[in-house]
Amino acid sequence: MAATQPDDFENPLPTHQFEEINRVIADLTQPQIAWLSGYLAATGGLPLASEPEINNTATAPALTILYGSQTGNAHGLAASLSQLAAARGINANLISMADYKPRQLEKETLVLFIVSTQGEGEPPESAHELLRHLNSARAHRLEQLNYAVFGLGDSSYTHFCKTAKEFDKRLTQLGATSVNPRVDADIDYQPVAEQWNQQVLEQAERFLEKQPHSVVSLDTARKLRQQEYTRGTPYGAQLLESRRITSEQSTHEVHHLTLEVDPDSFQYQPGDAVGVWFENDRLLVERILGLLNIDGAEKIAGETISELLIRDYELTQLHPNVVKSWAEKGGNKALQNIVADKNKLQAFLYGRQLIDLILEYTLQLSSAALIELLHPLQPRIYSIASSQSEYADELHLTLSVVRYGTKRGTRTGGASGFMGERLTEGDQLRIYPVSKPSFHLPPDHNQAVIMIGSGTGIAPFRAFLQQREAVNATGRNWLIFGNRHFKHDFLYQLEWQKYHRSGLLNRVDLAFSRDQEEKLYVQDRLLDQAGEVYEWLESGAALYVCGSQQMGNSINDTLVRIIDELGSDGLDYLERLRSEKRYQRDLY
Ligand SMILES: Cc1cc2nc3c(=O)[nH]c(=O)nc-3n(C[C@H](O)[C@H](O)[C@H](O)COP(=O)(O)OP(=O)(O)OC[C@H]3O[C@@H](n4cnc5c(N)ncnc54)[C@H](O)[C@@H]3O)c2cc1C
Ligand SMILES: Cc1cc2nc3c(=O)[nH]c(=O)nc-3n(C[C@H](O)[C@H](O)[C@H](O)COP(=O)(O)O)c2cc1C
Repeated sequence: MAATQPDDFENPLPTHQFEEINRVIADLTQPQIAWLSGYLAATGGLPLASEPEINNTATAPALTILYGSQTGNAHGLAASLSQLAAARGINANLISMADYKPRQLEKETLVLFIVSTQGEGEPPESAHELLRHLNSARAHRLEQLNYAVFGLGDSSYTHFCKTAKEFDKRLTQLGATSVNPRVDADIDYQPVAEQWNQQVLEQAERFLEKQPHSVVSLDTARKLRQQEYTRGTPYGAQLLESRRITSEQSTHEVHHLTLEVDPDSFQYQPGDAVGVWFENDRLLVERILGLLNIDGAEKIAGETISELLIRDYELTQLHPNVVKSWAEKGGNKALQNIVADKNKLQAFLYGRQLIDLILEYTLQLSSAALIELLHPLQPRIYSIASSQSEYADELHLTLSVVRYGTKRGTRTGGASGFMGERLTEGDQLRIYPVSKPSFHLPPDHNQAVIMIGSGTGIAPFRAFLQQREAVNATGRNWLIFGNRHFKHDFLYQLEWQKYHRSGLLNRVDLAFSRDQEEKLYVQDRLLDQAGEVYEWLESGAALYVCGSQQMGNSINDTLVRIIDELGSDGLDYLERLRSEKRYQRDLY
């Protein structure tokens, strides 16, 4: 069989390559050709990053890697673990907890759980349903299951790695066997993860029959290609435009950012977010070094301390361990008392940066000692405010610049200050996609959606509506938005009005908290419309909430109250909605 040259589009191949392909195809059987088309479709014709051998052998996945992630870290770790497994010839099934049927655990041999903790010790949205199932009386015994848990967290939170601990405890109670001690990893999780990966893969090899050679299913091949841009290998997106969208009188400076992306290699869904790497303010670094009498040109491992502080270390968020080390080194009694009391330490951290520690509790350090004490810089997460159905080669963000006053002067957030104050049009921003499978629109375009957001929590709903318009979704749309003042803080006002006029947005309810004597919030608007909310939910609507953790908690309480009053058990009702993916939240 030979390939014929189609006449409806131009053949981009030089003659010798075209003839070569024809020669190869001529010797192939029909099933071989079918497989080759699948392979090319999955890989886009490009070699895979780790170049494992592709084989369509229909082997059942021997190892399952389950991740529960909110801001992409657990997802990134799980994806690289799956690549390492493939390189060792282990056929691994990489899957988000959101897409995993809990009863499937009864059929598994070996599962690796990689899960973060969110909120105030809560599971990430994607892990909620699986954990709930395991904790319920419906969970069956799991004696056949071997497992290991890797927890991601931040020790500055009271409930450090709580979700990982809960998974571990419950799996043991259900009779499953832990093959490796659980790891509770802090923000600097990469080195611990590398060690854990080696250990669990060695365990996996012991349990699983080793494949004769590296076997990666086509599905896995597709997933591996999607990991092109990650936290470790970010994409350089050019800033096309930055425009302030709150008035000059607003207490909050919010910008709409437009970034350019290559639609072939950088793809996202409405509801997804991006991780953003940033640089600290050079002036802040100079001030810190000046106060510590350190020369910015001093070199450590070939780089100046000044460059290291700008690029690699956290200066604007204070980690408890930094304060603990500071108290130890300085011997200051007052600071030691604060460190000794968990609650006092929590309160101390909020609204303080490294510079405040230096100003309040003088300590002289060498440049090497300073670097040893600091924590590595972490990327920040931002919801995407656009849909690629409307802006294929763009990515929009809604950025609120964190700025607050202290007794010692005004302080600015690291990432938001970088993007809002120092990044100029034409500059590149290092970003990577953060998939949010637990915050995607319903696949059924006829389904109604209720979107509740305050402040920058509006961002993903802009993407939702662009998408609903682009696909001609027929389901009803209801937006409930809150902020401080109608006149100053009505983000994207004209766009909502346009959607309302066109009929895409069936309802818009607004809560401007400071436009009247008594404060008014989105949860109050929800309560005003209790009957209608219930009617929408009863007729199948999906409910989305985005914004601050505090707002999310209030909305949840209000929903329970509404549903209780209208005849059903509120808590049970919301649990059912969650399990049907009809109650999804993205809180920060
Ligand atoms: C899933 C997710 C989605 C997000 N989406 C968005 C989004 O769309 N838009 C957006 O703008 N942000 C969003 N964020 C928040 C964002 O990730 C950053 O947390 C935020 O921009 C602050 O980062 P920063 O580096 O500027 O500040 P940091 O350098 O991280 O400083 C934060 C610290 O400043 C202090 N602080 C902050 N405010 C005050 C205050 N009022 N008074 C006293 N101290 C204060 C606190 O100590 C706080 O820990 C999202 C977060 C998550 C997790
Ligand atoms: C809003 C928010 C709340 C968090 N709450 C906790 C917590 O209660 N306990 C904890 O150990 N870590 C907490 N963390 C830290 C995350 O678990 C940590 O950043 C982790 O690396 C995130 O992994 P993920 O991106 O896979 O979700 C929180 C992070 C955020 C953004």
